[in-house]
Amino acid sequence: MANILQPTEENLRDLRKFLLFGGLAGVPTETVYGLAANAFDPEACSKIFEVKQRPANDPLICHVPDVKALEKICETNPLALRLAKRFWPGALTFVLPKKDTIPDIVTAGLGSVAVRCSAHPDFHRLVEQCEFPIAAPSANPFAYISPTTAQHVEASLGSKINFILDGGPCQFGVESTIIDLRDESNPRILRYGALPIEEIEVELGRSIDKPAVTTADESVQHLAPGALPKHYSPRTPLELRGGLSPEDLENLADNEAALLLSRPAGDTPANVFWLSEDGKLADIASSLYAKMRELDESGFDKILAEEAPELGLGLAINDRLRRASFR
Ligand code: TXA
Ligand code: MG
Repeated sequence: MANILQPTEENLRDLRKFLLFGGLAGVPTETVYGLAANAFDPEACSKIFEVKQRPANDPLICHVPDVKALEKICETNPLALRLAKRFWPGALTFVLPKKDTIPDIVTAGLGSVAVRCSAHPDFHRLVEQCEFPIAAPSANPFAYISPTTAQHVEASLGSKINFILDGGPCQFGVESTIIDLRDESNPRILRYGALPIEEIEVELGRSIDKPAVTTADESVQHLAPGALPKHYSPRTPLELRGGLSPEDLENLADNEAALLLSRPAGDTPANVFWLSEDGKLADIASSLYAKMRELDESGFDKILAEEAPELGLGLAINDRLRRASFR
């Protein structure tokens, strides 16, 4: 069992020291919980791969408190500085050319590094106190559902780590959006996430290519080595449908669960679940992983889930649902 720490000043000070000397801890961000280590310490970072059972070719995201710290670990450009000014702290991760300060294990040997500045108030305070960037992938065993509460981290990694900083349930509930900014004339989305692409397009005053949110798009996989088709997956098979009609719900077998985007009208059988009251995408995203975990633990043989509309946060929600359904 890990110690679940409240975000007091004293606990943050202790955590900084624990990380500085090579420890691993679960940490909250506004997207999902992360598994944190000192990014300047290759040995500590190698423990992240071990604990998560993550393949060594899947690089980690580094968390920094501000643009000044960003400049210590990668080459920046005017586009990155502009997006940082607009969206940081926030749910947007940049991929930029790495500097030698970052050990190769963090970037899986790539010449680039993924960097974000989280807006979670407790985690941000911790990152500010650390004189090193914090490497933190999502705190789930490789390919399983990402955690959105300290209790989720405890349930899957609690036996392998000492501390989890409890920052409450994550506001967004899906991971950050990842954008490759190495070529300023051609910013590329590597992962749909909590910051909708449309907001980036508004800031830039132009459209950005939207890669297919599919699972087996090799061009995207090649760019973001961790973007595997099967990911974020419950153990229970999940089948994705364009929609689930009242008739589908009537025909649902007892050993199947239906996962709807919003509360259906009228009475529903006990195996019908929903992600929001009224279909608001932010509510659907923030409850998605917790609900998937709950259903995974309820002994159903199959989960039937509904797709979200393909816009805004819907792109990230569908991306996660598709990967969860990949067999
Ligand atoms: O919201 C988030 O981003 C969370 C919180 C904890 O910050 N972190 C997160 O990390 O989702 P992780 O490791 O689960 O996913 C990071 C993704 C992986 O698919 C990885 O392959 C990709 O980022 N990535 C990391 N470094 C990269 C790089 N240099 N180039 C391309 N993709 C990279
Ligand atoms: Mg992850």
